[in-house]
Amino acid sequence: MKVAFVARYGPPEVVEFREAPTPSAAAGEVRIRVLATAVTAGDWRIRSGVMPRGFGALRGIGLGFGGPRKGVLGTDAAGVVDAVGAGVKRFNAGDPVFAFPGSALGCHAEFLVIRADGRVAPKPANLSFEEAAALPFGGMTALDFLRRGEVQTGERVLVNGASGNVGSAAVQLAKHLGAHVTAVASAPNASLVQSLGADEVIDYTTCDFAAGGARFDIVLDCVGNAPYSRMKRILAPRGRLLAVLADLPAILGSAFAGRTKSHRVVAGPASEKAEDLMTLAELAAHGKLRPVIDQRFPFEQIVDAYRVVDSGRKKGSVILWLDPRAALNTWEHLPERILDRIPAPVLPFIRAIPSRTE
Ligand SMILES: NC(=O)c1ccc[n+]([C@@H]2O[C@H](COP(=O)([O-])OP(=O)(O)OC[C@H]3O[C@@H](n4cnc5c(N)ncnc54)[C@H](OP(=O)(O)O)[C@@H]3O)[C@@H](O)[C@H]2O)c1
Repeated sequence: MKVAFVARYGPPEVVEFREAPTPSAAAGEVRIRVLATAVTAGDWRIRSGVMPRGFGALRGIGLGFGGPRKGVLGTDAAGVVDAVGAGVKRFNAGDPVFAFPGSALGCHAEFLVIRADGRVAPKPANLSFEEAAALPFGGMTALDFLRRGEVQTGERVLVNGASGNVGSAAVQLAKHLGAHVTAVASAPNASLVQSLGADEVIDYTTCDFAAGGARFDIVLDCVGNAPYSRMKRILAPRGRLLAVLADLPAILGSAFAGRTKSHRVVAGPASEKAEDLMTLAELAAHGKLRPVIDQRFPFEQIVDAYRVVDSGRKKGSVILWLDPRAALNTWEHLPERILDRIPAPVLPFIRAIPSRTE
């Protein structure tokens, strides 16, 4: 199978295509034929080797010396179950699914093998494969941090970096939990975050959200420029700072920060729970969570996709498609035997077929 491989840390151009053995599904596992995957901020970090302050010395031990130990990156995938291992009852060949191996990686490949009782779920029927692949990284992270922050109905939540992958999910999930949401985003992204449900928008290019008199029960920081020393002024009593992006000193200090003011700081890696993926699928199926896609690239253009991610300016997710049917909600009505007969130049037009719910 074809995989995108990162042998050494560096710029987008270090990514190269290689042939790798197609994995088989062992007992309890499913093999997914990947139709769409995402290039996430997590992939950027592993590929570039750029670590938050304090983590540099730990990079070799954690990720690999000279280059990532796992050369096939990719945290999110959507596709079709292609083979099931012995004992698997939950899925059958042909089932549309999406998956979040997360830190286990491996989605930048034509096939992904994952435990059937792990972080894989039926694809919501109202989402295309590309949309489903755009859901997990930001959704899982936002869900975990908001849960650890114990968001309550009516609380005031500020999301810093609201137009990104984690932020765009956090705005929607906080609204779903009944919070009043203030989104920090640049003016060109104001309409996007409003469409996701934000009640107020602060343009970070003209206004310092920490300088006004407003108080928040929760500040969720996806940018890394909101340390507790700066946020304590704007946190209400019993307020929580959810530091999605934090350096090592901040993570180590989070257990003690704010105690004197009855504040709490939540930092560190998000948990990766199978049941959270099911929650995201349910919310998406009911229209409560909408994946945001900035740009879509064919798999072969992964370097261009990384360039967008490296800019730090993407909205939501950047998607790679490995099959023209990734743009559709279903694939059965366009079976392989028909697809194989369609001349290559016509394939891009397949992507323009409206999906069932559109
Ligand atoms: N703790 C964990 O387990 C965990 C899990 C996932 C992610 N993370 C980390 O969380 C961070 C965010 O991830 P992500 O996927 O959401 O990133 P992302 O999608 O790349 O974020 C890009 C967005 O950030 C916005 N932005 C940039 N500078 C900003 C600023 N000063 N104020 C407000 N918005 C700003 C950009 O909007 P403009 O174009 O308007 O600038 C853009 O829309 C990453 O560093 C990632 O490594 C941590």
